[in-house]
Amino acid sequence: MTPFRDRVAIVTGGGLGIGFGTASVLAERGAAVVIAEINREAGQRAEQALTERGLTARFIQTDVTDPASVDSLVTSTAAQFGRIDVLVNNVGIAVRQAFDALTLETWNDVWLTNMTSMMLCVKACLPHLRASSRPAIVNLSSINALRTIAGMGAYPATKAAIIGFTQSLAIDLAPHIRVNAVAPGVIMTEMWQSQMDDLESAIAYRLPYIPRGRIGEAADIGKAVAFLASDDADFITGSILIVDGGQHAKLYAG
Ligand SMILES: NC(=O)c1ccc[n+]([C@@H]2O[C@H](COP(=O)([O-])OP(=O)(O)OC[C@H]3O[C@@H](n4cnc5c(N)ncnc54)[C@H](O)[C@@H]3O)[C@@H](O)[C@H]2O)c1
Repeated sequence: MTPFRDRVAIVTGGGLGIGFGTASVLAERGAAVVIAEINREAGQRAEQALTERGLTARFIQTDVTDPASVDSLVTSTAAQFGRIDVLVNNVGIAVRQAFDALTLETWNDVWLTNMTSMMLCVKACLPHLRASSRPAIVNLSSINALRTIAGMGAYPATKAAIIGFTQSLAIDLAPHIRVNAVAPGVIMTEMWQSQMDDLESAIAYRLPYIPRGRIGEAADIGKAVAFLASDDADFITGSILIVDGGQHAKLYAG
């Protein structure tokens, strides 16, 4: 199954977690994948893991908050592969702290990394997406956009803003470029684990709230992103796909 054969996809933050899971699924399905990642070690490891399996992947060190770095990502991708068909805006950070401790600097940093970076990446990729015959953008939101927990600071606000951004972009770039978002629930990644003091009890606490009875994996999100980027989703744009094992539907544990 290679629905992405002859297509080039950029996955921001593709070195770890959901980004790597998404890069893997897209590459397995035939895409040439560019891993746009700030962490050199993670990016190199991700490229190696995919190319060792005979898949096409290239790491380009990128800081998605820096317009010059994003421009250079797009120029290098176009030079190496000649096209860009899919953009996955995956980078996101969360800083957990009490609201009283939240500074303007942290607030602005989370907005810049989670939201403004998406605008920069879309702007830079736009000429190439317009030239593609089947272009698609997929943005990573979160179920935190809909309901959240204590101490999440700017994170839920940025994830809700991504829904508005996805909808306005879907209209502005219509009819040619489709734009959708995935809202993951609890996914076992470096980011999620780093926020938990005691991983085992954090998992045990959450499981009764998740009808599917397990924590999500990066590949669960990668497959949803791949669906939205594929021709099977041709009539889907401006949509938000919740991928959380049913957690958003459940009011109480048990
Ligand atoms: N893990 C979850 O449970 C969960 C739930 C809902 C939504 N999400 C969203 O999914 C996305 C990925 O989350 P994750 O858990 O895989 O995170 P992660 O921290 O495990 O991975 C994020 C990747 O982005 C990279 N990155 C960070 N800043 C960057 C920058 N400025 N430029 C380029 N790369 C940068 C990191 O180095 C890392 O490789 C985020 O947008 C997050 O908000 C995650």
